[in-house]
Amino acid sequence: MDNSALSSRRILLIVGGGIAAYKALELVRLIKKAGGEVRVILTASGAEFVTPLSLAALTGHPVHQALFSPEDETAMGHIELSRWADLVVVAPATAGLIAKAANGLADDLASTTLIATDKRTLLAPAMNVRMWLHPAVQANVARLKGFDGFHAMSVVGPDDGEMACGEYGPGRMAEPAAILDAIKGLLAGPASRVLAGKTAVVTAGPTFEAIDPVRGLTNRSSGKQGYAIAAALAELGADVTLVSGPTGLSAPLGVTRIEVESALDMQAATQRLLPADIAVMTAAVADWRIDTIAGGKIKKGAGGPPALALIENPDILAGVSAPGPLRPKLVVGFAAETSDLEANARSKLSRKGCDWIVANDVSSDVFGSDGNAVLLVRREGVETWPRQSKTGIAQRLAQTIADHFETAE
Ligand code: CTP
Repeated sequence: MDNSALSSRRILLIVGGGIAAYKALELVRLIKKAGGEVRVILTASGAEFVTPLSLAALTGHPVHQALFSPEDETAMGHIELSRWADLVVVAPATAGLIAKAANGLADDLASTTLIATDKRTLLAPAMNVRMWLHPAVQANVARLKGFDGFHAMSVVGPDDGEMACGEYGPGRMAEPAAILDAIKGLLAGPASRVLAGKTAVVTAGPTFEAIDPVRGLTNRSSGKQGYAIAAALAELGADVTLVSGPTGLSAPLGVTRIEVESALDMQAATQRLLPADIAVMTAAVADWRIDTIAGGKIKKGAGGPPALALIENPDILAGVSAPGPLRPKLVVGFAAETSDLEANARSKLSRKGCDWIVANDVSSDVFGSDGNAVLLVRREGVETWPRQSKTGIAQRLAQTIADHFETAE
């Protein structure tokens, strides 16, 4: 999406209290650079982390802090602010702000504006991993996403990663560039649930092939691209089941996850989900498994290292693509290549019998990173998608899938 998506668009940014508030400064800079205008509401706890002065200097407008402020009520009170905005963005969205919005509690300028607005709202949650995973927070987020019409709030992130509190897991606020992408997506048009009624199976992550009870063979797939695709398909209304090898990621909201370990488990779980309308196979399935898994831990011994006999794993994608009544209407495979991207992807397309291949060049920094550049290879032609966030790739793929069904039906 080009930068003109934001030209003269008005973003009302609510900055909540959290260490991630410093990223709101970068977000303001990015929105302005993309041609948008920003006004800021800073909560009392937000002001503990960033100053109104920095935000005012970056936005070029006074920062709004109080619900009952004589200056604001004559200039721009909470109703005017929400009228002015094309989109409301809450970054960071704390557990407290999310809880207030989900329950209609209005006791300060930020929460009152969230209830008063008739504009779409995007939340960028940021909190400690245990807080994010708390069922109360998950229920509040699900509730906000499920409201009707413009009341339904959109959510970007949180990301997995190391947190300021030293823990690791989901809870870190999405990067400003990813929030900007989500803003552009929301402003580009009303969210449409064009895949409602369609079922989708997505495989993701690595597989883990046991050698003995304590050791195994695996690979460096993070699962991020597959999880992002599952989330993007669900955002468009598809009923998505994610079959995932071991990753550190939490299941995207609204997606059913089946956790598996080995390629054989992944194959069995995937086949059980057929027939489906859509299959997207992003998993980095181990090509080989150990012929005979040792029942007990293999000990070091005078005989030297054990010779591990490997046998080939079944090709899950080829199995799903095989013609028959269970074959999904659209099967999308992935190809990780280090050379001859297009030629290898084309040969994979015919060898595996799938409909499309998303090919990525893994010779550089892809594994575990948030960015990706890919080719979409179809029998009728090839598209190059430039480097962007894995979320961006996922949203584009989900939209392309939706367009495909629209044309086909
Ligand atoms: N795949 C699969 N089952 C396997 C191997 C791969 O379902 N046993 C799927 C992957 O999920 C991906 C596609 O096949 O969608 C291509 O994976 P890739 O690792 O690039 O291809 P390989 O078949 O392993 O081929 P090669 O190692 O020769 O590149």
